[in-house]
Amino acid sequence: MYKKFHDDDEGILDWEQKIEAAYKLTGTRSAASLARAVEAHMERKLDSDYGDLINRWKKGPPRGDGHEFFFKGMNRIFGLPADTPNYFLVEEPYISVWAAMPAQNQGVVPLPAQQEFIHTFHVDLAVNDENFSDWLRNRLVDQRNMYIGRDCVANYHRAANDKGYKNLNMCQVLLGDFVESDPWVELISNNKVGSVVILGAGSAEKDDIVLSSIDKITRNERKRLINYAIIDASYDMLFDTYKHIQEIFQTKDRPANVQIQPFHADFTDLYPLKWKIQPQDGSATVFMCLGGTIGNINENNFLTSIRACSKEGDYLLLAAEFIDGISPRDIETRLKEEYGGDGMKDLALGPIRGELDRQGVSPVKEDRRKKVVVNVGPPERFDDFIEGTIAAKLQIAISGTMLTLLESKRYRLEKFKAFFRGFDFVGAYERNDNPRFKHLLFRRTTPALE
Ligand SMILES: C[S@@+](CC[C@H](N)C(=O)[O-])C[C@H]1O[C@@H](n2cnc3c(N)ncnc32)[C@H](O)[C@@H]1O
Repeated sequence: MYKKFHDDDEGILDWEQKIEAAYKLTGTRSAASLARAVEAHMERKLDSDYGDLINRWKKGPPRGDGHEFFFKGMNRIFGLPADTPNYFLVEEPYISVWAAMPAQNQGVVPLPAQQEFIHTFHVDLAVNDENFSDWLRNRLVDQRNMYIGRDCVANYHRAANDKGYKNLNMCQVLLGDFVESDPWVELISNNKVGSVVILGAGSAEKDDIVLSSIDKITRNERKRLINYAIIDASYDMLFDTYKHIQEIFQTKDRPANVQIQPFHADFTDLYPLKWKIQPQDGSATVFMCLGGTIGNINENNFLTSIRACSKEGDYLLLAAEFIDGISPRDIETRLKEEYGGDGMKDLALGPIRGELDRQGVSPVKEDRRKKVVVNVGPPERFDDFIEGTIAAKLQIAISGTMLTLLESKRYRLEKFKAFFRGFDFVGAYERNDNPRFKHLLFRRTTPALE
């Protein structure tokens, strides 16, 4: 059974565009030739008129046998197995569909040249939902799946603007202060840095702060080029942020010495990108994980990855929230308030919406939100977490397990720094203007691993 991924008002329901995407994907121009292209991949021939089928598809979601077989045929072209109950339909931009296809099929459907097309056209396809059983086993949703699908962008912005959630604003203010500091100005101004790597997209405002600062510091330097790489596992978050940065610089001067490059990649497995992000002249790279994102992920995998593609003298800037000196009761009250908003719950429910559909849970948002609870305590993963860490956990009781949909961790400062030292990153500078939110700059002290 196929399920629509997001049938609510935020979804992209322009079926006309999807049929256009199918034409482009298969290199066909008419309903009849599209149908012929797909037919070869369908598991059984249809009696009905394909043209009619496709014209109906233009008007609304696929319904009935005919559409279902047609979609399965499309999925076969994409190299995605479509006949297990663990697959369901999602809407994804053409480019991510293309990138996800097996290499031999990528040749069949050309990568479009125009940027505009990449952003506009969408196609429905089946996505492997088998992760769910892994998540149940680990009792934790893998954060790399949190932001799949277009509506996650809107959900993220709504969550960040939830009434109780003040972190985003606070992080931006403090980042603004950080880039005014002498150590930062010194680092950027003496030609030592060739690359800045942003780990996790999200709010373009933070990029604006960093880019504007780099521009201010380097504007009068000649022959200076800094690569500014933005890395995110979610295509939609990445390009939304990238587009937003472009918009910001339409209204003010572009940074003169900076080249901005988005990379659709997993930052817990960054090694394949090492030679793209490291400057060729051997100058330093500054890795940055801002906005508290470190608190959403497995720190061990994260630091292993950064260690594998950094070298002696590289920097790592981390923004995180700390709980030293705060009573457990205050921590709990605060975190429950911060993470109890509707935006946050909708965001957290994203990865299991297909599963909830399958389980027959009411699709009404309000009903689904009621199933999510905020608990505060140690993180779900006990094997490698940083001692003393407390997490806000958005959880749901499902299939006999308490599944953690989203985890946001708060740390003890000294334990946090000791953990980084274990990965050869030693504290280089820290601002103490706020006891809770801190920007910590670490420096790699050992030679690169070869
Ligand atoms: C939107 S931010 C959350 C920002 C911040 N934690 C906050 O509270 O506002 C997290 C971003 O990191 C990305 N992300 C998470 N894990 C990732 C990974 N392993 N590799 C690349 N990107 C990842 C997500 O796709 C998402 O865009």
